[in-house]
Amino acid sequence: MEIAVRDEGDGIAPEALDRLFDKFYRADDGDRRRAGTGLGLAIARGFVEVEGGTLTARNRTDRSGAEFIVSYRI
Ligand SMILES: Nc1ncnc2c1ncn2[C@@H]1O[C@H](COP(=O)(O)OP(=O)(O)OP(=O)(O)O)[C@@H](O)[C@H]1O
Ligand SMILES: [Mg+2]
Repeated sequence: MEIAVRDEGDGIAPEALDRLFDKFYRADDGDRRRAGTGLGLAIARGFVEVEGGTLTARNRTDRSGAEFIVSYRI
């Protein structure tokens, strides 16, 4: 079972894809950087993994934007 959550933002920089789920990681966007702790995705992945699922991120292929996929084998 997969649940995909998509947005219509700028997407994720290629160099950030590997580190997105690291604790306290925040992509460096200079002045455009929004407030945050860099913990949201690490915590989200933790919740999904204790339930036996996976949480991954990728860029959309149909337009700009990020896509987060929660996946469980059922
Ligand atoms: N939907 C998204 N589109 C593009 N980049 C994203 C998206 N969500 C997260 N990121 C990038 O991944 C980084 C880590 O996200 P994460 O949610 O862990 O922390 P945060 O949003 O910075 O802070 P918070 O702890 O408040 O959620 C963000 O700083 C941002 O650079
Ligand atoms: Mg966040």
